[in-house]
Amino acid sequence: MTISMAEIDRMIAKYPRIELIHLPTPLRKLANVTADLGGPDIYIKRDDLTGMAFGGNKSRKLEFILPDMIAKKADVVVTWAGLQSNWAMQTAAAAVRFGIRPILVLFKTYDLPAERDGNILLDYILGADVRIREAVKGKLVRLEDALAAVEEVADEERRKGRHPYIVPIGGSMPLGSMDLPLGAISYVNAYREMLAQTRALGFEPDFVVHSTGSGATQAGLVLGAKALTPKVRVVGISVSDFKDSFGREVLAIAEATERALDLATDVRAADVIVHDEYIREGYGIVNKDVADVIRMMFIREGIVLDPVYTSKAFIGLLDLIRRGDIPRSAKVVFFHTGGTPALFPNKHKLVEYLK
Ligand SMILES: Cc1ncc(COP(=O)(O)O)c(C=O)c1O
Repeated sequence: MTISMAEIDRMIAKYPRIELIHLPTPLRKLANVTADLGGPDIYIKRDDLTGMAFGGNKSRKLEFILPDMIAKKADVVVTWAGLQSNWAMQTAAAAVRFGIRPILVLFKTYDLPAERDGNILLDYILGADVRIREAVKGKLVRLEDALAAVEEVADEERRKGRHPYIVPIGGSMPLGSMDLPLGAISYVNAYREMLAQTRALGFEPDFVVHSTGSGATQAGLVLGAKALTPKVRVVGISVSDFKDSFGREVLAIAEATERALDLATDVRAADVIVHDEYIREGYGIVNKDVADVIRMMFIREGIVLDPVYTSKAFIGLLDLIRRGDIPRSAKVVFFHTGGTPALFPNKHKLVEYLK
């Protein structure tokens, strides 16, 4: 059953939000890339321009997560992620403004040195307490290991009389101190925002394509589409996890979000479309196609993609067009979810491939 934008607004308004970013983010056509390909019409939703700490999807989520930290009287936030994490840096940037001290447990999931570059430099400038942990190269952090590590840190803080708030990686799955899918709620809102923009331009998209990592962006977009425009296909390009297990995770977040928003959307496994064939060498590993697509988008559109998420998602989009899964007659919105600080620690690989 389709519902109205006003109803969605009312449901989302049940959850307090702190204004951290500039919304709506711009939506514009990729005129050169569309012409180069001979269709489809590709538009880009610039969530890299949210305006907090280099922008990105995490800052939308934090607008809903910060009020929960404050309501629970947190004075410390503990989270985990990969080494050059956008999520961890954005969490730290949002928290310090409200006097909440960030402790970031970062796993060395790929072959980059833990030096002060990219997001780790920004973490350092912010004064975040960064704890580096070893992990298997190219693999995701195992949930049990991450939970054990953050629990240990949180216990240490509790023993000192502090009130830690544990927030899960990416602000996605309700876990730790975050018992509601607050990150996904922000992406139901993002879908609604994007739809208002496309309607103002006189169309509704056929496909929405984006990078998917910890799941809340996709869960929110899928639900937004189901509620407002059920024919729209939301396509998540995974950068880390294989589609079966990840699809289940996104579905679980989407179901929790339906409950939290009282939505009768009846989300199903078939609504969650995940492609895992663009992960290639593994999470965060830059290859020649990544370097080439970053150069192409910079030259043709003046837009900088990141080397971990949006470049692989754009490679996926181009391939789905080539394969005919997305027809040339379609209208597509690609979400740029940010992540550009990770370009700099990957400079050697990028230069090597672009030589
Ligand atoms: C730049 C960027 N894009 C996309 C994603 C994926 O979003 P989500 O974690 O909500 O799946 C992330 C984080 O994981 C990210 O940092």
